[in-house]
Amino acid sequence: MIYLDHGATSFPKPRAVCDAVDEAMHRCANPGRGSHDAARAGAEVLYRCREAAGELFSVEPERVVLTASCTQGLNMAIRTLVRPGDWVVISGFEHNAVTRPLHGLGARITVAGRRLFEPEDTLWAFRRALDRGAKCAVFTHVSNVFGYILPVEEMARECRRRGIPFILDAAQSAGAADIDFEKLGADFIAMPGHKGLLGPMGTGLLLCGRLPRPWLFGGTGSESENQAMPDFLPDRGEAGTLNVPGFAGLTAGIRLILEQGPEAIGADESALAAYTAQELEKLGYEVFRGRRQLGTLSFRGREDCQILADRLAERGIALRAGLHCAPLAHRSAGTLDTGTLRVSFGFGSTWEEAEGLLDALRKSVSGL
Ligand code: ALA
Repeated sequence: MIYLDHGATSFPKPRAVCDAVDEAMHRCANPGRGSHDAARAGAEVLYRCREAAGELFSVEPERVVLTASCTQGLNMAIRTLVRPGDWVVISGFEHNAVTRPLHGLGARITVAGRRLFEPEDTLWAFRRALDRGAKCAVFTHVSNVFGYILPVEEMARECRRRGIPFILDAAQSAGAADIDFEKLGADFIAMPGHKGLLGPMGTGLLLCGRLPRPWLFGGTGSESENQAMPDFLPDRGEAGTLNVPGFAGLTAGIRLILEQGPEAIGADESALAAYTAQELEKLGYEVFRGRRQLGTLSFRGREDCQILADRLAERGIALRAGLHCAPLAHRSAGTLDTGTLRVSFGFGSTWEEAEGLLDALRKSVSGL
């Protein structure tokens, strides 16, 4: 299979990740629930994961809350900072994992910066929106549809300057871009464990600059006599039994990223996307490309996106078609009516895979 759907999840998972999951399945019991060896081994796995994340993102390990997904982390962060009726500034490229929780809470939303690959416009619109009295800001680091890298360091600075709390959605950038929690000064950064960090599905991280408001209540293995959730990290955000084998795998994934460096990984993915974009244009497709683009790119042609994706899937080429759970990004780019085909490169993607896709599309142009 030619797998070009790393934006959905990284696949196949590295051997080291699978081995770590397998080992934890055999060695670990429920952490924090007993003093026996198997429970201790489980606790050790979770601590190692926080530690590895701390190293990669420059954050203290206890500020790393382990979640089941980026969506869970975003929900917790948004519920901490936003009350019904609050004005919240978001970018024009947000995923439903941001817009739906805001909508569900009854927040009033200002969308700032809709021009694709135009960081100056993004920043200008963002500043203007903040000055109109925002209670908080939520923005993505990289668009999951177009790979557009937003100017998040500058956006973070604008928030800090005004004392406006903010949440960064690092769903597409974690593992492929430099993210420094301390330097950004974010209130929260949410990310999945199973995309660029190479872990299993069902894992995620929420980096916390402040205590989160719990959205899930239950046992933590700490302060059991207390009926309120503990008021310390990470326990406050971690009710119930955690996915220990999943986090063992995630630690192995993060260690691989630390070895190679996220920026080097991201640069390789960007180069593949830039080449593929250029070749797709030669084939007559409309390609959405720009200077600040990570390893994800969208394109469309005359034929229906889903039909073309299905035909490619029959030939063993995996990519995603449609709206990619981000209708706002499509509205911003003018592709809401058709959706797009999305190619997303990831860790271990090769030039041969890019060529494989292009060859299949060359044939499709002449009838497949
Ligand atoms: N949010 C993921 C994607 O972009 C699943 O495909």
